Amino acid sequence: MFLPSPWRADFPAIAALQRQHQTYLDNAATTQKPQALLDALSHYYSHGAANVHRAQHLPGALATQAFERTREKVAGWLNAASTDEIIFTHGATSALNLLAYGLEARFHPGDEIVISALEHHANLLPWQQLARRRNLKLVVLPINPEGVIDVEAALQLIGPRTRLVALSQLSNVLGSWQPLEPLLAHARAQGALSVIDGAQGVVHGRHDVQQLGCDFYVFSSHKLYGPDGVGVLYGRHQALNLLQHWQFGGEMVQLADYQEATFRPAPLGFEAGTPPIAGVIGLGASLDYLASLDPSAVDEHEATLHRLLLRGLNDREGVRVLGAPELALASFVIEDVHSADLAHLLTEQGIAVRAGHHCAMPLLKSLGLAGAVRVSLALYNDSDDLQRFFEALDKSLDLLR
Ligand SMILES: Cc1ncc(COP(=O)(O)O)c(C=O)c1O
Repeated sequence: MFLPSPWRADFPAIAALQRQHQTYLDNAATTQKPQALLDALSHYYSHGAANVHRAQHLPGALATQAFERTREKVAGWLNAASTDEIIFTHGATSALNLLAYGLEARFHPGDEIVISALEHHANLLPWQQLARRRNLKLVVLPINPEGVIDVEAALQLIGPRTRLVALSQLSNVLGSWQPLEPLLAHARAQGALSVIDGAQGVVHGRHDVQQLGCDFYVFSSHKLYGPDGVGVLYGRHQALNLLQHWQFGGEMVQLADYQEATFRPAPLGFEAGTPPIAGVIGLGASLDYLASLDPSAVDEHEATLHRLLLRGLNDREGVRVLGAPELALASFVIEDVHSADLAHLLTEQGIAVRAGHHCAMPLLKSLGLAGAVRVSLALYNDSDDLQRFFEALDKSLDLLR
């Protein structure tokens, strides 16, 4: 039975991709954009671009207003206590690097930073490199066969030496929600700061950072149907006060002289240089678009597609799905078939999926794999997309076996 997406026509690139005989199923990497975003970008650039927070003139005031309106929308989206808790960065990766540098002075040799075994490189490498610079111990929480952090082990490993816990909300490889609640409560009790990598989690449902009880939460606009080049760092007010400034220049300064300077607090103090103005304004338009959808209809649509995806994969001989994906995606390997060969044949048939280590090399290595193929869904996908994928998969397997 055909399952259409009621929102497909809102994304002009899907029809364009179809004309190029492309079926886009790499949404965990980045998403296509709604017309509402294209309109907002076109409006901004065709009505007068201007820099923000500095010019007195009308175009500057309008750009600043639109830019700051997005900060309000993001604060509302995450239920932050204040717009001052929202810092714009260039992506989740740059937000996590900002944190690793901004918090560096708080760490002393022997302190521990805790991450999990399934982290994306963006939430591994900044902490790994910080640990190397400051002589810290990087503790890695184990995961169970379902791809979920082992809570019992984690509660033992997060202890009095733990200064910071940095965890993914939803795995980009295994598609599993992580048990943040008990882990964050325990980290808090130990006096550790917490960082949540919401790059995948933010795309599915709405998450309340105050309810989550984290100190910091990061995500990238481009995975949330927004423009690329924009990221968000949410920080609880008291936690942001712990950050040292790390990039210098532009409107982040309060007073500057040749030999010394003072800097603004968050958020502007952490937005050095000209920010991605159009991108931030565009993110606001994407959030407005998403807010106009019925969230339960989106959830239901994505859940149905995901069930079809898993059923199709499990029905095929020799397919091993990694972990126990709960939504949005499935990564898999096939007995006696090299993932890169399979990906090549899928690409030749116009199926856009991701193959490789998914920026989580240590995780793939721990599973004994060099790579896997990942299919990831978005709200504009329909069951025909999956049917085309499975037809291409069967054809590829006939050739490879
Ligand atoms: C879980 C997770 N964290 C972080 C990132 C990094 O995001 P970006 O490349 O937009 O900075 C990604 C992107 O794939 C991701 O999936």
